[in-house]
Amino acid sequence: MTSSNVKSALEGVATANDHLSSDANGMLQIEGRSAESLLEEFGSPLYVVSEATLRTNFRRIRDAFQSRWPKPVNVMYAIKANNNLAIRAILHEEGAGGDCFGEGELYATFLGGADHDKLVMNGTNKTYAELSAAVKAGVRVNVDAADEIGMLSEIAAETGRTARVCLRVKVTPQELEQFVPDYTARPFNMLDGVRGMQWGYSIEAAAAMVPEVLSAPGVELDGYHLHVGRSNPEPDYYETLARAYVETIVELHRRTGYTPDIVNIGGGYARERDPESRSLALNPHEIEEYAESITGPLLTGLEGAGIPTPVLWMEPGRYVVGNAVVLLGRVGSVKRDLEKVWVNVDVSVNNLMRIETAHSTYHVLAANHLLEAHDEVVDIVGPLCLGAPLGAGRHFPHVERDDIVAVLDAGMYAETAANQMNGVPRPATVLVNESDAEVIKERESIQDVFVHHRIPVRLRGGG
Ligand SMILES: Cc1ncc(COP(=O)(O)O)c(C=O)c1O
Repeated sequence: MTSSNVKSALEGVATANDHLSSDANGMLQIEGRSAESLLEEFGSPLYVVSEATLRTNFRRIRDAFQSRWPKPVNVMYAIKANNNLAIRAILHEEGAGGDCFGEGELYATFLGGADHDKLVMNGTNKTYAELSAAVKAGVRVNVDAADEIGMLSEIAAETGRTARVCLRVKVTPQELEQFVPDYTARPFNMLDGVRGMQWGYSIEAAAAMVPEVLSAPGVELDGYHLHVGRSNPEPDYYETLARAYVETIVELHRRTGYTPDIVNIGGGYARERDPESRSLALNPHEIEEYAESITGPLLTGLEGAGIPTPVLWMEPGRYVVGNAVVLLGRVGSVKRDLEKVWVNVDVSVNNLMRIETAHSTYHVLAANHLLEAHDEVVDIVGPLCLGAPLGAGRHFPHVERDDIVAVLDAGMYAETAANQMNGVPRPATVLVNESDAEVIKERESIQDVFVHHRIPVRLRGGG
């Protein structure tokens, strides 16, 4: 039932950086490619990466901060959000640096392509091997454990290279008490949240560590790092953190005389469609607002203390890749009972674990019926024995077996967290742009799911 006065399901859902549209028949197009043709060619379910969206996101966040900061800004893609190597390669072409949490991400970052001078390694429990890999590769280390300093000195002596580091700090201004994270059911505020997290050093601890790092042989202190993360999308939240960060830098300068060359502000920038808010409503705040809320207090605070403006480093993950991936799937059986409708699809929470772990709320589109009336209320459910629906109580058009669904914002923390619960293989990933649609990650087979399992010989009797 198509009706001319029914608006496209993309209205009020699509955002400026998306490359999503509907054709005249109501079929979703991702960067001009029809959802149907992609599923026919590559199978279902399927992660589809829009190259133009990825590049647009990167340029937009870079420009938002660079236009407000008088020194160079190094945008380091946090590869934990999505570690696909082709995504890394595209971002390397765009000039992105990288945030690597551990040796695996360092490996992936270099495989995709990276400039060592624009990379950092994070973590509170880095091993000697990880630190050594970072120093050998010329990657900066965000020191977040006191015993790293000695290890780094040793590695510097062993390799003949300088270990270049920043110190990860933690800020706990009282104002954080007013911000209650929207991504968790636990009743706590961001002051408790930050106090309780293992990352970063308080001002007292940092004041003792700065001289220690400065005097460690072979170790060079380049600046500071702070990452708290996306807690809620209020610009005031980002401003509060930036103000506390600059106060910390100034106070450490007062106590130790140390002047940073790099100030790293981490990641955590909420997207316009913001699944972790647990709401389908668009976040009214855009990245330029966050850039203003952060750079303003930092620049004012540094200038007020007479500290020369350092270079700005940042580690966005979700902002860069979140909306660049759409997860396509097919409808299976549609069950109607007890005055409810369950639309079964082959996409599962295995592919969108934030539904299970953070109760994220994703937009799910009936991708081949975008222009039809959405007059049924349905639960869209996956094929697992896990109960969490992909979308509950959603207005949907009438759908049947083999229709198509599209889950938006499947770019962040989806593939990297995907698992094989119920023995379900993980989907393939396809990269689309104006001229091509190319597989950038092969679909797993059922055999792949069990490829590393071993049955001890004594259990193989079968009798
Ligand atoms: C140290 C660090 N930097 C950057 C990020 C990326 O955060 P986001 O994807 O929210 O931008 C994270 C995420 O956990 C992180 O731990």
